[in-house]
Amino acid sequence: MSFYITTPIYYVNAAPHLGHAYSTIAVDVMARHMRQRGEDVFFLTGTDEHGEPVALAAEREGVTPQQLVDRNAPRFKDLMPRLNVSNDFFVRTTDPEHQAKVQEVLARIRDNGHVYEGVYEGWYCPRCADFKTDAEAGEDHLCPIHRTELIREKEDNYFFRLSAFQDDLVRLFDERPDFVMPRHRYNEARAFIESGLQDVSLSRSTFTWGVPVPWNPEHVFYVWFDALLNYYSALSYAKPGEDVTDRFWPAQYHVIGKDILKFHTVFWPAMLLAAGLPLPEHVFVHGFLLMASPKTGGDGPAELMKMSKSMGNVLDPFAIIDEFGADALRYYCMRDVSFGQDGEVSTARFAVVYESELANDFGNLASRTIAMIHRYRDGTVPSAGCDPELARTIDGVVGEVSELLDRADLTGALEAVWLRVRRLNRYVEEQAPWVLAKDDARANELDRVLASLAEGLRVVAVVLHPWIPATVEKLLATLGAPELELAGACTTAGRLGAIEKLEPLFPKPK
Ligand code: MSP
Repeated sequence: MSFYITTPIYYVNAAPHLGHAYSTIAVDVMARHMRQRGEDVFFLTGTDEHGEPVALAAEREGVTPQQLVDRNAPRFKDLMPRLNVSNDFFVRTTDPEHQAKVQEVLARIRDNGHVYEGVYEGWYCPRCADFKTDAEAGEDHLCPIHRTELIREKEDNYFFRLSAFQDDLVRLFDERPDFVMPRHRYNEARAFIESGLQDVSLSRSTFTWGVPVPWNPEHVFYVWFDALLNYYSALSYAKPGEDVTDRFWPAQYHVIGKDILKFHTVFWPAMLLAAGLPLPEHVFVHGFLLMASPKTGGDGPAELMKMSKSMGNVLDPFAIIDEFGADALRYYCMRDVSFGQDGEVSTARFAVVYESELANDFGNLASRTIAMIHRYRDGTVPSAGCDPELARTIDGVVGEVSELLDRADLTGALEAVWLRVRRLNRYVEEQAPWVLAKDDARANELDRVLASLAEGLRVVAVVLHPWIPATVEKLLATLGAPELELAGACTTAGRLGAIEKLEPLFPKPK
């Protein structure tokens, strides 16, 4: 089966921060897991490079927009290997192939009768690159997200007849209750649609940094229409000399943050319907990572805000990676904030999770299991089979995690794995191998305990690979069993024999 999954494409006019890393890590976990299941996976990420904010930033800096994006896009592209992310392609909306596809699809939408010419007048936030309704603008005309002043815009635009898709979208939501996940986001998107859809600008004519409208080059396409199409365009040129659109379209999952819900759950399906293209299976909407804002200070409770560059409360993913490695960051992001909800993150919590869960629960389990096999059995895992009761719990993890990840429950799946990590640690305490080792008559028992621990550790490690890939690869290499496929992740696989020594997986910070 093919499995196509995407992240949002990132605006290049800011440096990458943990919020961007978050969407990307989540998608990487799902992509890696599906590869372990033997699926034909395509994982796309990239950068959103057109639009007014970029044009304005370039003007301020005295460079061309192209120079600005060429300088900034690599910061995002370089983030991927540093996060140990396994994307199959990195799309840039300035790629000529993408631009040609945007022109082709939007011309088709026009040919299908869904575009007309008009004058736009209303409120616009240059930071969101979004037009706001009067209700959103409120009486003070401030952006509800950025709290900055909105601009009154009046310009010639082409319009997309979004209003004509209202009934189709309601039907889509009726027929596919899991089109938008989790449920509270489905309800939000549905309420937006049912409140009445207005037509939206498809083009802009007051600046030129964008994909030219082929039937009127005085206009460029509104950046959101250009950007959304990345999910479709990239498949046509991601693999040199090969068009993989038919193999992977439609996507199984678009993973996005809650701030871009309207575009992905309303505009995007309407555009695809207008173009006569199949719709994605699911849009999964995650929450925000929140940090106490240093700007608010004072004695009162710290105010939690969406973490973003302009708010000045950025937890730098590069700094964390430099000190603790990408796996620690990946684990922390997926563990501490329930995927789909908002949640607070902090360096203090990071330190706690690193020490108690990664270093103590998992790192120590691996260290002591391997150390005992060296101490008591000369570095060879006894072929004594796994304790049946323990094996039941451990082997159940594969199905459970697969089922949870099919629903994009990344935090729940991690929790399911951790139950087993804790179970294995308890097993060490219960069985006390150091006591068994003192009594030659109990050598068989010791064999069984050591084999159970090694088999259990191997299974848990394989299942954990999507979250902490580098650590797991190191551990599995030590165990002499590097295979990652889930089909072989069971305590009866009999893959273990001579093992190597292991350095601490999560060393104490200096
Ligand atoms: N360019 C658009 C997306 C176009 S997709 C066709 C965009 N870019 S963005 O760079 O501003 O945001 C990209 C993603 O990062 C969004 O999903 C957004 O929700 C996410 N995050 C940005 N800050 C975040 C947090 N503090 N927490 C979690 N994710 C957040 O929007």
